[in-house]
Amino acid sequence: MTTLDANDVFADRTAATLAHLQETGQLKRLQTIEGPMGPMVRLRGHGDVVCLCSNNYLGLANHPEVVEAGLEGLRRYGAGTASVRFICGTFDCHERLENRIAEFHGVEAAYTFTSCWNANEAIFATLCEPGDLIISDELNHASIIDGIRLATVIKKGLHKGVYKHNDLENLREKLAAARANPEVSGQIWVVTDGVFSMEGDIADLPALRGVCDEFDAKLVVDDSHGTGVMGATGRGTHEHWGMDGSRIDLFTSTLGKALGGGAGGYMAGSKAMIELMIQRGRPTLFSNALPATVACSADKAIEILMNEPDRVARLRANTAAAREGIRTVGFEVLESPTAICPIIVHDTAKAIAMSARLLELGVFVIGFGYPVVPEGEARLRCQISAAHEDAHIATFIEKLEVLKGEFA
Ligand SMILES: Cc1ncc(COP(=O)(O)O)c(C=O)c1O
Repeated sequence: MTTLDANDVFADRTAATLAHLQETGQLKRLQTIEGPMGPMVRLRGHGDVVCLCSNNYLGLANHPEVVEAGLEGLRRYGAGTASVRFICGTFDCHERLENRIAEFHGVEAAYTFTSCWNANEAIFATLCEPGDLIISDELNHASIIDGIRLATVIKKGLHKGVYKHNDLENLREKLAAARANPEVSGQIWVVTDGVFSMEGDIADLPALRGVCDEFDAKLVVDDSHGTGVMGATGRGTHEHWGMDGSRIDLFTSTLGKALGGGAGGYMAGSKAMIELMIQRGRPTLFSNALPATVACSADKAIEILMNEPDRVARLRANTAAAREGIRTVGFEVLESPTAICPIIVHDTAKAIAMSARLLELGVFVIGFGYPVVPEGEARLRCQISAAHEDAHIATFIEKLEVLKGEFA
């Protein structure tokens, strides 16, 4: 052992952290998938299993036309842009995709990023200024939380706040206090997930719009789990509530879930917001564009969704059947109109053990515990897809029955 090893603070504390996770049954083990993402996947060491943990909500991840569009993109544009957008990285496939995203959401313009995480990291630091306030639902996605944190570090004097989950009265109180605070002299931004990824519940967007209008605040909605899922034609949570996209000031969302599942994210809103992002966004000025292959696949995925709203109806029917089955077996499933069905089991180690047992039984569902969800609220998060056939849902419920007997 060298002297350096003897003082390796990082190695010692990391070994202790990992040992603690191992001892308490919280250590995550990555599964390796050896084929395409679909209603069933081939898992190394487990064979073909029913997949209920991907965000492939519309079954487009391995749709032949989505795959072919990516291949065609590869043939036409090569491996990638080898540049950031403002130098020589904007290809016509980016323009096509962004126009389609804007049309899909019913807003003026859109801009893509290599992930929605990246989009959420970019928007606050770029669009907000000192004197502004960003106020965020307490259960918003980690990328929103970190995006806001980063913005307030980059821009001193930019204020942040949190309101209780889906609690409009709490939000109103905080906005009233902010308006009475001379330090909050600029724009107020209210930020919410459309669909909350761990609970599967949704934001009350009409009510939020009303509160925002009262306080001249802008409403930002990350609809990563709502895009392609919510509303009759899958436009998102605003459609579920009967709202036009233009009633939301800014959307962010991902291309890595319902819209083809490859990767990538975007912001969609006013031309002014997009123009400011092009001029000033650090992730847009200093990081490569979305790969052309992914842009082509995502564009095709959205085209398919716009032409085939039946996929959304199928997803809804599958989700209703799965929820009904979970309840009949006797598990506690959180209610919601989304495709996320969290089975609450409270204890993290139990959630992980249950997910391991389900896998032995041929069903792939992940157990989520602390720190992804609050302590004591561990769960099996089951996600339904339009690609599931009745037999897949039936197998899932049959295996849950076995689990119920073993983990009562
Ligand atoms: C609400 C929400 N926002 C953002 C993201 C990040 O999306 P991406 O995978 O495109 O970075 C996710 C993904 O889990 C999400 O659920």
